[in-house]
Amino acid sequence: MKLSNNKILITGGATGIGFGLAERFIRENNQVIICGRRESALQEAAKKLPSLHVKTCDLTVAAYREELYNWISVHHPDLNVLINNAGVQQHMSISDPDFLARTLEEIAINNEAPVHLSSLFINLPSLKTIINVTSGLAFVPIARIPVYCASKAFLHSYTLSLRHLLKPKNIEVIELIPPALNTDLGGKGLHNYAPPVSEFIDAAFIGLRQGESEISSGFSDTMKNAGPEELKKVFNRMNPVS
Ligand SMILES: NC(=O)c1ccc[n+]([C@@H]2O[C@H](COP(=O)([O-])OP(=O)(O)OC[C@H]3O[C@@H](n4cnc5c(N)ncnc54)[C@H](OP(=O)(O)O)[C@@H]3O)[C@@H](O)[C@H]2O)c1
Repeated sequence: MKLSNNKILITGGATGIGFGLAERFIRENNQVIICGRRESALQEAAKKLPSLHVKTCDLTVAAYREELYNWISVHHPDLNVLINNAGVQQHMSISDPDFLARTLEEIAINNEAPVHLSSLFINLPSLKTIINVTSGLAFVPIARIPVYCASKAFLHSYTLSLRHLLKPKNIEVIELIPPALNTDLGGKGLHNYAPPVSEFIDAAFIGLRQGESEISSGFSDTMKNAGPEELKKVFNRMNPVS
């Protein structure tokens, strides 16, 4: 994709990786729209980046995804890049009483939303690029976040098909595969051990500039390229039997 003069929607762009992408894309001379559930987080982001356009939206609800698409088609019909970044990470056990409810919510945001939004946004005549944000955990799961890891494996697989399906329409499909980064994903403080978002944003922009369609770094790069024996070893290391 070209890296300037785009109009880009970043879901979940008020915080973490989405905000890091928004910041960098604005610096590279793009117009950026972000959406998310919390008005306060959107306003805080807009205070830091005054050129941002913001839209409140809960992407777990199909009708709100349609409303978002309709709003974009009226107010930003020249949007040419969709970044499916919004996601949640539920730490849970299968015997928790709210296991199913949390699972369904996690699948709605991590999977239903990117699948639905892609099917809507390809109808914008200007759309040229879809970027899906997966994870190194798409390749090897951590059992205490079971549905999260499965949702990222789903999105990785779906992204491969989407890239193939959208070739005839000349819509490019890119996958960003971050390693663990210091954001509030899963709850405040849980990712404090990880490197800053800026490290991955730098790697992502090098990959985008080089025209890569799958962009990973560190752990996620190692897992993407690992064979079955290495994946088994890493699984055992990350999931010790207590
Ligand atoms: N941090 C990591 O270690 C890591 C590693 C690999 C991949 N990722 C992926 O990177 C993406 C961004 O995560 P992050 O680490 O930057 O965490 P984050 O700061 O918590 O960002 C997640 C964003 O998604 C939005 N969101 C959540 N549920 C939503 C919903 N129902 N509707 C609309 N927006 C919603 C949140 O805003 P609201 O709460 O205001 O809705 C928030 O801005 C996720 O897909 C995550 O899986 C993260």
